Amino acid sequence: MVCLGNICRSPTAHGVLEKLIQNKGLSESIEVDSAGTSRYHLGDHPDPRSIVAAQRRGYSLQEQIARQVTANDFNDFDYVLAMDADNLHHLENVAPRGCKAKVQLLLDYSTSETESVPDPYFGSDGQGFERVLDLVEGACRRLLEQLERELPNAETEQ
Ligand code: 4NP
Repeated sequence: MVCLGNICRSPTAHGVLEKLIQNKGLSESIEVDSAGTSRYHLGDHPDPRSIVAAQRRGYSLQEQIARQVTANDFNDFDYVLAMDADNLHHLENVAPRGCKAKVQLLLDYSTSETESVPDPYFGSDGQGFERVLDLVEGACRRLLEQLERELPNAETEQ
């Protein structure tokens, strides 16, 4: 999961998908991580407002530490998912040859009309962090359905 700063949107997507994976008993089979395209917040924990908003829905983000996306990420992960169009273009530009197909928008997996997870710092209604969670939750549920289809031998807990 990749956004700009790795302190709000991608940590939220990381925490949400991680929990959904745990709930299905698939933590041994599916790894999720997050990173930023920028170095602005290297070493920082997620924004406290993201942590609190996620906690209210049962997701834990507080252990995460911001890092920048690396070339290795494109080899290590099967999916490299951008939160918005700027992140997508950045990733497409730095993806090693042969890895560009791994780069997609997270909201490609959403039923929402919205293409991008909006940066919660824009807008003044204080709902930015909830909006991020709403969009990310829906997309992560559908993404996990896709991932499960790619794990034919996975034993899921019923
Ligand atoms: P994020 O949010 O990409 O969701 O982590 C942002 C965090 C920091 C900045 C922009 C967006 N920034 O410009 O520092």
